[in-house]
Amino acid sequence: MLILGIESSCDETAAAVVQDGQRVLSNVISSQIRLHTAYGGVIPELAAREHLKNIRPVVQTALQEAGTPLEKLDGIAVTSHPGLIPALLVGNAFAKGLAATANIPLVGVNHFLGHLYGTFLERAEILQDPQAYPILGMVVSGGHTALVLLPEDGRAKILGTTLDDAAGEALDKAAKILGLGYPGGPVIDRMAATGNPGRYNFPRGLVGAAGKPVPPEHKYDFSFSGVKTALLYQVKDRTLADAELHDVVASYQAAVMDVLVTKAMAAARDTGARTLCLCGGVACNSHLRALLQERCRKARLPLLLAQPKYCTDNAAMIAGAGTHFLAKGRRDPLDMPVSARLPQDLGVIPFARLASL
Ligand code: KG4
Ligand code: ZN
Repeated sequence: MLILGIESSCDETAAAVVQDGQRVLSNVISSQIRLHTAYGGVIPELAAREHLKNIRPVVQTALQEAGTPLEKLDGIAVTSHPGLIPALLVGNAFAKGLAATANIPLVGVNHFLGHLYGTFLERAEILQDPQAYPILGMVVSGGHTALVLLPEDGRAKILGTTLDDAAGEALDKAAKILGLGYPGGPVIDRMAATGNPGRYNFPRGLVGAAGKPVPPEHKYDFSFSGVKTALLYQVKDRTLADAELHDVVASYQAAVMDVLVTKAMAAARDTGARTLCLCGGVACNSHLRALLQERCRKARLPLLLAQPKYCTDNAAMIAGAGTHFLAKGRRDPLDMPVSARLPQDLGVIPFARLASL
């Protein structure tokens, strides 16, 4: 199956062609980062205008690079939720226009599931291995921080999510406080490499530290607002020397990543997960990848780290996930709505080994 994926939920206009949910024939991304840097975050209306400018050339390039004419496509998968409504609307309108004029099946894909599928691009055979299940996915991006358990029948369960900021948001906001630019994750990753992560003890949210027991209902939930506030007070009205700044950044990153790893390992242990996968933009983080690798090696838990190019927003992951919906017969109508929200019930995840929709 040849599927065109389209992604416009935030600040990347992206299109990709993926064969059989596995081979990425093209993966084109036009990033708007520079446009939003001046504001320290994404402005939805600006993002939408930029998507409008870029969507046509990005899709055309993806089709050309893949050597796939429109009439060869078996389907179009577009991110329909969650995301910024003005931004989503552009990708969805374009996808629907193409689907209608070329008479191609259309499917709307949950961006969160797209990130999860990003782990399996170019190694989708793992999904066919009964030994891999249940799979525990940790999706960490600018918009999401969640642990999701994927059993063989695809009836996934979200075990926990963030109660306030997403992990990537915590990094982006820290970078804004420290005047490091947008997005914060990559620059924090770089600066932390030469800082001392043990110099400052930033609070770890919802892990039961400092004598504060975690309420059982929040066992797998996350909270990053406390660490952000602690940073704010740490640096308030002060000019940091360069070495101190690196230490602050390294200590802050360590606090955020520590929580992610602690929660993922606890959830894996409690659920008997047989594979852990890490995906989403924050999964690019070198400290997080190394820490998780070390912990999983000790726990003898197979770990799948999404390739960095499939961690941050891209359309290959949307095409890949969409392939499985289309293969299982789902078709969405041309009046399919977009939505800003992530549904609590993810429904049946079609790429699980025994899933039937
Ligand atoms: O998945 P993504 O591209 O978009 C969303 O769906 O949100 O993730 C973007 C997030 C941003 O918060 C960015 O700071 C973070 O991923 N990020 C990183 C790194 N690269 C991107 N965070 C930590 N370390 C990185 N190397
Ligand atoms: Zn994303």
